[in-house]
Amino acid sequence: MFQRFRRTRQNKHLSALVRETQLSTNDFIYPLFVTFGEGIKTEVASMPGVFQMSLDEILKECADLKKMGLNSIILFGIPETKDSIGSDSLCDNGIIATAVKAIKKEHPEMFIVTDLCFCEYTDHGHCGIIDHVHETVDNDATLEISAQQALIHARAGVDMIAPSGMMDGIIETLRSALDEGGYPNLPIMAYSTKFSSGYYGPFRDVADSVPSFGDRTTYQMDPANRREAINESIADEMQGADILMVKPALAYLDIVRDVRENTSLPLAVYNVSGEYAMLKHAGNAGLIDYNRVMMETMIGFKRAGADIIISYHAKEVATLLGK
Ligand code: PBG
Ligand code: ZN
Repeated sequence: MFQRFRRTRQNKHLSALVRETQLSTNDFIYPLFVTFGEGIKTEVASMPGVFQMSLDEILKECADLKKMGLNSIILFGIPETKDSIGSDSLCDNGIIATAVKAIKKEHPEMFIVTDLCFCEYTDHGHCGIIDHVHETVDNDATLEISAQQALIHARAGVDMIAPSGMMDGIIETLRSALDEGGYPNLPIMAYSTKFSSGYYGPFRDVADSVPSFGDRTTYQMDPANRREAINESIADEMQGADILMVKPALAYLDIVRDVRENTSLPLAVYNVSGEYAMLKHAGNAGLIDYNRVMMETMIGFKRAGADIIISYHAKEVATLLGK
């Protein structure tokens, strides 16, 4: 019997030779949540295995990550005080600036990405400054303070900036602020196609960033829109983004493929908090073979066209790849 497909599946070495997609620890960026205080490591109820950590704990965590072959992190800050403009993110001794400096000092070779946004720092939980007349986020006022925040991250010594607020024109604004501010070599990873998604729920618990009124639908994308998703990413490319991103990942793999086919820039996916929580809780309940389903999910991101995976699973993936 002529066996067209089974012939190459009989031997594990041959299977490895014909395997089209590979995973490596080099593909991953691991998210870390830095909070104020000392000796704090609080597990997030909705995301078992994910913690809010004070800086001393973050430094220990970075040492563990390096041992596992994970050399890239994305940092989110949880400040002690929040106000209407997110002042903590606009000063050189705020939570993120302090964390970047300390990590760079102790782990100079760790590649640090900072999430640039305001929702974790504002008392209203929106991703920018509020225009009270129109009860919405003021795009251009937010661009101005985003440029300030970028320079603070740059001065602290960050390796790459990732603006996540979805303001129109953000990449152009940050690129020129960094160029003029003396940081022409600092790359920008754009959250270029970011949908308004229920999958961010657990993250907003961790970062304490639930909007106090309204929602994010005037700045984040409608999940129903495919053409607009491609346009958003291409617009960021034209404004000077170095890396593009699709977020969330699982329900949007068609968009990952679409963006992949419309750009030659590197492409990241953000495997978000709700996606992590679904697998984690299903695994803990004994409903799925967790490790297997997780690795299958990760390879799906690469197969869809992603180069980079931002994921809370990164440490588990590294452990399995090392076996
Ligand atoms: C901040 C930000 C969010 C995420 C990354 N950066 C939350 C949001 O837009 O509400 C989501 C990450 C996740 O769910 O894991 N703008
Ligand atoms: Zn935000």
